[in-house]
Amino acid sequence: MTIKQTLSMEMMKQDFPILKRLINNKEIIYLDSAASSQKPQIVIDTIKNFYENTNANIHRGVYKLSEEATIAYEEAHKKVADLINANPNEIIFTSGTTASINLLAYSLGKELKQGDEIVLTELEHHSNLVPWQQLAKEKKLKLSFIKVKEDLTLDLEHAKQLINSNTKIVASTHVSNAIGTLIPVKELAKLAHEVKAYYIVDGAQSVPHMKVDVKDLDVDFLAFSGHKMLGPTGIGALYGKRELLEKISPFMYGGDMISEVTWEDSTWNELPMKFEAGTPNIAGGIGFGVAAEYLKAADPEKIHAHTKDLAEYARDRLNSIQGVTVYGPTNSENRSNIVSFNIEGIHAHDVASILDKEGVCVRGGHHCAMPLMTKLNLQGTVRASFYLYNSYDDIENLVLAVEKAKQVFNK
Ligand SMILES: Cc1ncc(COP(=O)(O)O)c(C=O)c1O
Repeated sequence: MTIKQTLSMEMMKQDFPILKRLINNKEIIYLDSAASSQKPQIVIDTIKNFYENTNANIHRGVYKLSEEATIAYEEAHKKVADLINANPNEIIFTSGTTASINLLAYSLGKELKQGDEIVLTELEHHSNLVPWQQLAKEKKLKLSFIKVKEDLTLDLEHAKQLINSNTKIVASTHVSNAIGTLIPVKELAKLAHEVKAYYIVDGAQSVPHMKVDVKDLDVDFLAFSGHKMLGPTGIGALYGKRELLEKISPFMYGGDMISEVTWEDSTWNELPMKFEAGTPNIAGGIGFGVAAEYLKAADPEKIHAHTKDLAEYARDRLNSIQGVTVYGPTNSENRSNIVSFNIEGIHAHDVASILDKEGVCVRGGHHCAMPLMTKLNLQGTVRASFYLYNSYDDIENLVLAVEKAKQVFNK
């Protein structure tokens, strides 16, 4: 199987074997890609093929299998780098976004001292909040949050007030996983760099869905997860500008990440190995590389256009149902592929359960953004997230299922 060069979005669904499965005699309407995407056949085959034909540890053997595994694993770094316009040695494979951000909190945290400031936004996933919060507590740093405005976009004026000469790190999501807001990362990069702070982007929801060019955006670090972008679980990446990765301390110590070891001290291996201690998720990494290649062939700009069209249509359809409130920026320009909503008088978890009976997979809850939910006076929302294999028919099914939920609860 080869990766198609010109993909129509409808054709693409055929590449995803799981979407052919019936549950309760119903087709699966998968609208939870923001939590984890489905995997195309080529990614599944790549992983299977690795274990059947190439399996061996990397960087250690001089025999054929190990050499092939090493080449495939290194190639995977190139494919992921290519997707975001980075150099392969600027791509560190981690277990995902959470691990990438924790790595940074540890390594950059070593440089910080009491009184230094970290600026986040109110839209962060717990993964880009808790590591900084704990670091701030431990080192007595000041942590502040750029506000979300009434229209649910980021308040850039507030960002300008918060970011100052004591700010050492600015970290923000690119797309809010909870309410779909797009963040002006280029502007935040400028503000951070004006005060010589690092700018870190949580790209868990953007890299799978749109063109993300790290050079154009001028971000210092970018974290993302393989499983949200057609790849396997347990693998993801941290992009970092080369000079920064060379400067900062490694996060984990052990095999593979060293150059020389004596009883007293050690020196570090070249990038990216300096940050990849121990035997990595080799099969996962190779599958991740193929997923990145698939996304590149599908064209991230087309994926963004397709999923945004679907989300806009879904918003309109849901907004027309009495008792449904859709959340997200009022201006379409600031919206993404994620549609968050509630049905009056029904808990988001109950809505998600009824939708499941209709074959519609959505997420209900706080979406790992508890402080944001509290600020918005919400216990949670129902979240439908669209990806390249979704269609307008999926939205009609979503709407029918929402109507059904209202009937079940007499709303
Ligand atoms: C914006 C955002 N950041 C971070 C994460 C954490 O990703 P992972 O669980 O793959 O580490 C998620 C996952 O939902 C997310 O949506």
